[in-house]
Amino acid sequence: MSSHAAPKNVLTIPKVQKKKVLGEKITMVTCYDATFAKLVDAAGIDLVLVGDSLGMVIQGQKNTLPVTLNDMIYHTAAVSRGLSNPVIIADMPFMSYQAEFGVALKNAGTLMKKGNAHSVKIEGGMEVAELAYRMSRVGIPVMGHIGLEPQKVHSYGGFKVRGKALSEERKLIKDAKALEEAGCWSLVIEGVPSEVADKITQAVTIPTIGIGSGPGCDGQVLVLYDLLGLDPSFKPKFVKKYVDLATVVTDALKSYVDEVKTKQFPADEHQFHRLALVTPLKKKVHDCFFNTF
Ligand code: KIV
Repeated sequence: MSSHAAPKNVLTIPKVQKKKVLGEKITMVTCYDATFAKLVDAAGIDLVLVGDSLGMVIQGQKNTLPVTLNDMIYHTAAVSRGLSNPVIIADMPFMSYQAEFGVALKNAGTLMKKGNAHSVKIEGGMEVAELAYRMSRVGIPVMGHIGLEPQKVHSYGGFKVRGKALSEERKLIKDAKALEEAGCWSLVIEGVPSEVADKITQAVTIPTIGIGSGPGCDGQVLVLYDLLGLDPSFKPKFVKKYVDLATVVTDALKSYVDEVKTKQFPADEHQFHRLALVTPLKKKVHDCFFNTF
C-alpha cells in the first residue's frame, strides 16, 4: 500500500510553522522560472514566493500594479516544475482579490489548480481579514503581508518604511493579530523598523517573515535577483548582495562576443562533421550519437 505522507525533505505548512516553536529560522526567496527554481530547491530554501515583484524584475514595470492573474499563473506553474521540497506561495496580484469575495476565492483557487501553488499571499491588514478567513476555511492557505504593502505604492507616495509612528505601530500589531485570528498561517512584514517587527513577531504565534524588517522576525525573504546582484543600479539598505552576478554575466557575454568575432567559437569540440570527414574513432562516436538520437 502506498503512503500519502510527504517525503522527509518535503516542507509543508505545518512543518514550517513548527520552526517558529523550535526557534529555527525560516528561509524564503522569490523565484519566477523553472531554471532558478531548481537551484533554489538544491540550496535548501524553505519557502518560495512567486512574487508580483515579477512585474518589476521580469517585466521591467515601475511597480507591481500591472501584473495580471495570468502572469502569476504562468510563472507559478513554471516555478513549481523546478521545485521538489519548498512550500510554494503565489502572490495575488492587484485587484484580483480586493473587489469581491467570490472572485477572490476563484482566483486564489486558480493559482492553486493551474499554478500548483500551496498557498496564496495577500497584502493588507484588518481590511482583508474576512477574506483571509473565507479562504482559509475552504482550504486555501493564506500568507498575510503587512507593513510596506507595494500594491499601495500610490497611496503612500512611494516605497517608504511604515510603522515609524506609535499609532502606526499599534495598527500593525492589531493587523497582525486580526490576520492570525482570521486563519493566516504566516505573515510577511515588509519595510518596518526592527523594533516594531520584533513586537509583531512576539504578538502572534504564526511565523513572521521579514524583508527590510530586521533580524527578529522568524524568517527572512529577499527578492532572488536582488540577493544575486543582478541589477547594479538597485542598492536598497535592506538588501545584501551575496554575489555580483551582473558582473559575472556581463563578463561571460563579453567573452562570447569576443570569441565569435575572433572565430575562437565554435571550436572543434562544438562542431558536428560529415561522415566522410571523420576518423574511425569519431565514426564510432558519430554512429553512437545518431543511433541514440
Ligand atoms: O512580490 C514580492 O516579491 C514580495 C516580497 C517582497 C515579499 O511580496
